[in-house]
Amino acid sequence: MHVLMLNGSPHPKGCTYTALSIVAAQLEKHGIETSIVQLGVKPVSGCIACNACVKSGYCVFKDDGVNECVDRLKAADGFVVGSPTYYAAPNGAVCAFLDRLFFRKSAAYAFKPAAAVVSCRRGGASAAFDRLNKYFTISRMPVVSSQYWNAVHGNTPEEVRQDAEGMQIMRTLGDNMAWLLRCIEAGRAAGIAPPAVEPWIATNFVR
Ligand SMILES: Cc1cc2nc3c(=O)[nH]c(=O)nc-3n(C[C@H](O)[C@H](O)[C@H](O)COP(=O)(O)O)c2cc1C
Repeated sequence: MHVLMLNGSPHPKGCTYTALSIVAAQLEKHGIETSIVQLGVKPVSGCIACNACVKSGYCVFKDDGVNECVDRLKAADGFVVGSPTYYAAPNGAVCAFLDRLFFRKSAAYAFKPAAAVVSCRRGGASAAFDRLNKYFTISRMPVVSSQYWNAVHGNTPEEVRQDAEGMQIMRTLGDNMAWLLRCIEAGRAAGIAPPAVEPWIATNFVR
């Protein structure tokens, strides 16, 4: 079993990574492997709504890791997205990346448990957390919860490690995701298939 993690921060070993690493350690305690995609500091294009991915399954922009991540997420059993909080939202690069990772590709991610983790110095974490969960809840991905909204506080990794409640929230999230993954595995072995997917009824407005 494998959980893919995305670190949306420009800092590969910063606060967001510190939170993700606690979730990863807990998953690994339960025998679940993890790997991490680092967004880094290179520009990430936003979605240009060209719809080319409807046919190809991949984004027309091929040089910023989105398409590799499509394949890695398809192969994974679960997904955790981490983002720093910028102006009470996920940072711009992670939103640009996720727009293109999910748009017209997310059918392949259905029924994979997912969770968001945010890091912030002071405030705005819950708005950023809500925004990230939107990707999962429009994609039939069961959202894994913890004992509070998944945020850590601090401006350095050292400060984040001092956030004892934040650390506990990350450990609980790892435990809960491992438990759900094992339940899904046991269900599959017992012949419980995921629900049938109805054809999409797309109403562009309601009246
Ligand atoms: C452009 C920008 C906007 C930020 N906005 C907020 C904010 O709204 N609330 C907050 O608490 N911290 C804010 N911060 C601080 C970051 O959230 C904090 O430094 C981050 O969680 C560090 O994570 P990292 O080390 O993984 O990059 C902001 C930082 C930057 C660079």
